[in-house]
Amino acid sequence: MEKRGKWGSKFGFILAASGSAIGLGNIWRFPYTAGENGGGLFVMLYLIAIVCIALPVLIAAVSLGRHTGKNPVGAFESIKPGSNWKLVGYLGVGTGVMILSFYAVIAGWTVGYFFKAVTGQLNNITNKTAPETFSNFISDSYLQTGLIIVFILLTIFIVSKGVSSGIEVFSKVMMPILFVILIVLLIRSLTLKNAAEGLKYYLEPDTSKMSFKIAIAALGQAFFSLSLGMGTMITYGSYLKKKEDLLSSSLWIAFFDTSIAFLAGLIIFPAIFSQNMDPAGGPGLVFQVLPVIFAKMPGGYVFGSLFFALLMIAALTSSISMLEVPVSFAIDEKKFSRKKASILIGGIALIFAIPSALSDNFLGIMNYVWGNLSLSIGALFIAIFVAYIWKSENALIELAEGSNLLEYPDAGERFFSYKKNRKMVLWKITLKYIVPVFILVILIGIVFLGIEF
Ligand code: PHE
Repeated sequence: MEKRGKWGSKFGFILAASGSAIGLGNIWRFPYTAGENGGGLFVMLYLIAIVCIALPVLIAAVSLGRHTGKNPVGAFESIKPGSNWKLVGYLGVGTGVMILSFYAVIAGWTVGYFFKAVTGQLNNITNKTAPETFSNFISDSYLQTGLIIVFILLTIFIVSKGVSSGIEVFSKVMMPILFVILIVLLIRSLTLKNAAEGLKYYLEPDTSKMSFKIAIAALGQAFFSLSLGMGTMITYGSYLKKKEDLLSSSLWIAFFDTSIAFLAGLIIFPAIFSQNMDPAGGPGLVFQVLPVIFAKMPGGYVFGSLFFALLMIAALTSSISMLEVPVSFAIDEKKFSRKKASILIGGIALIFAIPSALSDNFLGIMNYVWGNLSLSIGALFIAIFVAYIWKSENALIELAEGSNLLEYPDAGERFFSYKKNRKMVLWKITLKYIVPVFILVILIGIVFLGIEF
């Protein structure tokens, strides 16, 4: 049997988990979903969902993972053996493959746009020509298929090399550079004419537009962006050493991820309005808007090429975390070798990627069903499981491991000292009473009102 890997350090874990969290979800999915759902109101709900719902679930998932040291199926099974709870793990394994399949399509777009940028094809693009360039690009089915194959092969290659060596090193370099480029872009975008109009659309919530459709979009986006609800963070937590502090790691991950998404919106909405483009322009939004902005700025060729290169890498550090879930399951539970598992499961994702590449509608349905519904259902069950089945008192002990919050009154017996940490108590209450209720209300609302794509 292969030995389970471990992250080198707490910093290594934060980097790898942020690498999973930060990806196309922040820069592609967040702005276009905000644009389609009325802007400011969606953004407000998304931020509330991150703090009040997704962050507590993140802490729960990482604790569960580290405590059991297992993939999602094994984690549920080791706490509640022989029960149906492992089905939540199976749902996660399946969701990982399905999300990877459509994610690879968008990642293929970033590979394609990187080549366009490097070869100078985007140098003279304008708001008039950008939509056509994009639609010609996505309707070339051979090209699309080729790009997906390239991207999935890269993902398989890294995952087959194993966790800490492949994933950790990769995230280290990429994120600081991505951040710098985003700041440069932000300055360009905010100094465009009509920038204020874009900011208004992005930041001013129009509460009269409130609906279940917007609520599920915001909730799903919060889970998607933090890689929650399918066991990624359980799996990543399982590679974390006992001595590292879980709570502060989780807070950093959520902070980095949310900042990058928010920043992406601050760049894209002013750019859309300055170019008279449509904020509800759908999944192609960033690929149509950003090249126009690059073409208009000094050094745009360099920044544009670098940007698409980094976006490709950000997508890769996320896609490997999707593949890692089913792969760690196949290794732990089915005794596959890492290499065989990566190739086989990556291959399945590739087959499902093809219809998403060829049809916008199919892509939209996959995105909604797996990216919003399945992640929300998975997160609901993870929260209930940790709070009520494993029990939050036990989770608190796991959480406190690696910090100095445990007391040892008598030999052996450990218990958690509530007096010492209010943050953890707040977490426990939120996970038990707020998270399940909110998710349930939104899911029930969706069922009653019918699913709208
Ligand atoms: N969080 C990733 C992103 O924002 C996507 C992802 C979803 C990764 C679910 C793993 C699991 O791009």
